[in-house]
Amino acid sequence: MQALPGFRDFLPDQCAVRNYIFERWRKVARRCGFVEWEGPPLEATELYTKKSGAEIVEQLFNFTDKGEREVALRPELTPTLARVLAAHEREFKKPLKWFSIGQFFRYEKQQRGRLREHFQLNCDIIGEKDLAADIELVALCIDILRAFGFTENDFVVRISDRGFWTDFFRDNNVPAERWGDLLQAIDKSAREPREKTAKKLGNLADPVFATLKSGGKSAKLEQLVDGLGARGLANFVAIDVGIVRGLAYYTGIVFEVFDRAGNFRAIAGGGRYDNLIAQLSDGAVSLPALGFAMGDVVLGELINEIPQAHEEMRKAIANDSKIDIYVVIAKEQRRGDALAQIQQLRDRGYRTDYPLTPTKVARQFQAAEDLGARVALLYGDEWPQVKIKNMATAQQELVACDRLVVRLAEVL
Ligand code: HAM
Repeated sequence: MQALPGFRDFLPDQCAVRNYIFERWRKVARRCGFVEWEGPPLEATELYTKKSGAEIVEQLFNFTDKGEREVALRPELTPTLARVLAAHEREFKKPLKWFSIGQFFRYEKQQRGRLREHFQLNCDIIGEKDLAADIELVALCIDILRAFGFTENDFVVRISDRGFWTDFFRDNNVPAERWGDLLQAIDKSAREPREKTAKKLGNLADPVFATLKSGGKSAKLEQLVDGLGARGLANFVAIDVGIVRGLAYYTGIVFEVFDRAGNFRAIAGGGRYDNLIAQLSDGAVSLPALGFAMGDVVLGELINEIPQAHEEMRKAIANDSKIDIYVVIAKEQRRGDALAQIQQLRDRGYRTDYPLTPTKVARQFQAAEDLGARVALLYGDEWPQVKIKNMATAQQELVACDRLVVRLAEVL
């Protein structure tokens, strides 16, 4: 039997990659003052049908549970965040900076960069309407990608403002009920044939295409870019009003991150959703909010593509997979003594391994090497002395077993 289409098995090598990605995500988010939280993987289907937008509702993995509830595996985290905040908002001082790492499920057509499950890092700022929060969020997104070894030559954050388009619709006397559909049409315009988009845009087709071609002007976007420039990050961003994002709840600044070469789907995307919490709580709680999510699939592909990012990952994984100590049991009579000391070494935090059953000494040393052990300890004829072998230099020394822990603390 195989995994379902669009679902991955994570064998140790793939798990190492995944853990590397999680570790960098977590490290940078925390470095920037974000705190971790998590929600449940299954939610009421209504949470998504209420406000996420048509596309994601079509992609839901949903079913009726044994209690006759309509439920769905989460396709994204933002509705859960809005639900949680509506319930717990009073317990926290604002603004909040929260991040989360978890798995998400979308019944999508499987293609390069798109699977039916993926992991996301979500970073959100809640309770701050000032543009300073938007600048902080985009800066965080850039810093996270820099932590993987990427430079401004490798990726670009395309920034836009939905307000730019809603102003445009207002100027063109478009009724507000049509705005959602028009935004969806603009969002898809880069991926769809021009005629299809033109049909959806109707009489607005010409001015919209002209604006997309010339690039719009927006004081807010320029201020955002200036703010990033002040942090030395201007080269990582570009204003692109063609970005409007597929999700329905965005209200202001939106952005998406792409590889510079244009080979892949979006690495990350996000924006402001100042009304979502109020909409999901039927007006009970109103809080401005903004955030983004970065997926592991495209990020992993880009790491493989960009040599310096790949080397960075290779080094980190090699370091992380090494053990500290391999215990070579040269005489089986010594197994009991060795196990007693292995227990002590593990209690002290050393990554320690040994052969579970009688094994030739040469094979044990080979295992020590394969596992990247920094030292091998030899339990044999020298007992109650133990031989410490430095695996890098091949230097050996004998220490009394009761001094072993002290000596290892000096060596390792
Ligand atoms: P999104 O653009 O739908 O945004 O997803 C964010 C990222 O998740 C994408 O850029 C992509 O890297 C990854 N992703 C999405 N779907 C798939 C898939 N089927 N396979 C692999 N990777 C995928 C959101 O989810 C928003 N909730 C982000 C957000 C957070 N907005 C505000 N706060």
